[in-house]
Order: sequence, then C-alpha cells, then structure tokens
Amino acid sequence: MNQLFASIPNNKKIIVQELTALVEKIVQQTFDFGALTCSEWKGYKFIPLFEADTAKRAYDNYEFEENTVLLASFPKTGTNWTAEIIRQIFYGQDEKLDAISKSIPPALSVLEIWKAEKLDLMEHLPLPRKLFVTHLPAELINIDKLKKKNGKVVVLVRNPKDQAVSWYHFSKNHHFDSVRDVLSSDWNQFFSDYVQGKHPLITKPGEWYPEFLLEWNKHKDGSNVMFLIFENMKKDIKREIQRLATFLEVDITDKRVAAIAESTSFGAMKKDAELGVSEFAKVQNIMTMMRKGQVGGWKETFTVAQSELMDKIIEEKLGHTDIKFTYML
Ligand code: A3P
Repeated sequence: MNQLFASIPNNKKIIVQELTALVEKIVQQTFDFGALTCSEWKGYKFIPLFEADTAKRAYDNYEFEENTVLLASFPKTGTNWTAEIIRQIFYGQDEKLDAISKSIPPALSVLEIWKAEKLDLMEHLPLPRKLFVTHLPAELINIDKLKKKNGKVVVLVRNPKDQAVSWYHFSKNHHFDSVRDVLSSDWNQFFSDYVQGKHPLITKPGEWYPEFLLEWNKHKDGSNVMFLIFENMKKDIKREIQRLATFLEVDITDKRVAAIAESTSFGAMKKDAELGVSEFAKVQNIMTMMRKGQVGGWKETFTVAQSELMDKIIEEKLGHTDIKFTYML
C-alpha cells in the first residue's frame, strides 16, 4: 500500500484514503450498504455501490491507457478468479509489481464502482498494464476508445443456473436494503423475480444475464475480444491460462502456467481470502465470495420446473446465437 500511496500526487491521495477506508469498513462490517440507492443510465439500473455517473464518466471522458485489459463479466460468473489469474500473468513474477497490484483497493479496479474521480488515480498507478473489471453491458463501454489504445476485452461466461444460485447466496448475505424487496431470501421468490428481470444488476427492467451475453456476443469476432468459459476453466485450467496469456500477448512457460493454476485453485484462493493477502482477498472473505466454485451445484437448488423454465427462457433469448452453456461436467 505504501508504494501505491507514494505514487499518487498529493492532491489525489485523499481518494486512495477513501477507497482504503471503504475496504476497512466493509471488512469491519460497519459500511452502511443500506444508505446506498440505485442509480440509472440509458435505462440500465445500477445496483448500489455501482455508480451510473462513474460509468458515464468512463465512457465520455476517461482515456484508457495503452494495452489496457477489460474483464467484462456478469456478477457471480468467476470474475475474481479470472481477475486474479490475469493479475498473476501480468505481475506474479515481479516481487514489487506483485505487491503493488495486491494493494489496489477493489473499488479502484472495478470500473464503475465508487465515485468517478477515482478514475483520475489510474494513470498514476505504478503498473505497466492496467486491468479493469466491469459488470457493464457492452453498450455502456466505449469499446472504440479502448480499441484505439490496443486494449483487449476478456468476456467471461458461466452457465446461468450456477450463476443464479451463486447470486442468490451472495445477495442473501448482504444488506442492499434499498433493493431488499426484490432480492428475496426465499429461493423460489428470488428465482421468479430474477428471471423476470426485476433485479437491478446493471440491467434494464425485464432483462437479466441473457441480455448481457447477447450484447457482448456482438463483439465476439473482434480481434481484441476473447470469450472465456467458467466451465472450461474448471475442466482444464492450464489450457485456459495458456490461452489467456497468448491473447494478452504475454510469454509464459508451462511451469509458470502450472504455478498460476495451483495458486488460483479454489482451495488456494479461499485460503488467501481467509488470510487477507490482498485488498481483494479481504473483501472476498468478508463477502463470502469463495463459496463452492463448482459446476452443476444448481441441481441442489433448482426444482425441475425452474430448470425447465430457465431452459425455455434461454432458448427464446439466446437459441439463435452460438452461445451454448455447459450445465454439468
Ligand atoms: P459459487 O457461488 O458458485 O461458489 P464472482 O467473482 O463473479 O463474484 O463469482 C463468484 C463465483 O466464482 C463463486 O461461485 C465463487 O465460488 C467462484 N470462484 C471464485 N474463485 C474461484 C476459483 N478459484 N475457482 C473456482 N471458482 C471460483
């Protein structure tokens, strides 16, 4: 944290302090999620903590740095796992950069979280290559601007049944009081609301995960876009790390791939979260984000009717595309 702090100009240090204090409050469980409300832009409703103004500022006024990487994912699809793999591909072998990248508060690297002025810090971070995580739909990202800077987008995909169960457990544990009425702690109600598009997950009313994929899928064939599948990562993580490194134009040895696979396994990352080895890990631990990390767990939660209903909706919304999901391994 000291190295990160030292690199920020004095007039902007206050923003780092605020971001660090935010992590501390979340860890101490004194952060008042209940005081936050939803914001909105272009018809998309932003769940609290995610800020429409910040997304807008990023779109209109923020200049991406050369070679920036954007990890675009819907919530609960393995975002933090993939972000950690990319962090290790970039910085894992350089002690200094490894330490700096671990000290970055999560609200800084998630593009649309927290106040817009946090974007002013990015250019000062002493990291040669910037990684943003985003849950924004493609329409709200200025992709042309990113492309002009040789930026790359990794789009993460997970089957929507495991995603829904993961989202249910996550939301049940937290206090988004202003949207509590639609984040029911009863699974049946939660599921019904969710697939009717009542959850404000940076989605338009009536929409949910399929629409997010549909929009990002339009960019699939771009040379600077890669789709990464959670279930493929579970099946053969070394192959997927290698594929990711190639896409990011980072030379990597088999030995290094194996080391990253091991240090980002579910067990290893859960332990890191418990030990709070990075700012991300601290938040992951307190927000119980390391839950099961498996494929097919949805079977324990979904009724047959719910599974059939989701199949039907997915077919209606995505059946005409090449997006196909793996529900079991
Ligand atoms: P489950 O709730 O199904 O366990 P996100 O980071 O987008 O919020 O996604 C959270 C999901 O990714 C959780 O799924 C979490 O357990 C899983 N996950 C996190 N780290 C993982 C890892 N190293 N390996 C496999 N799954 C992981």
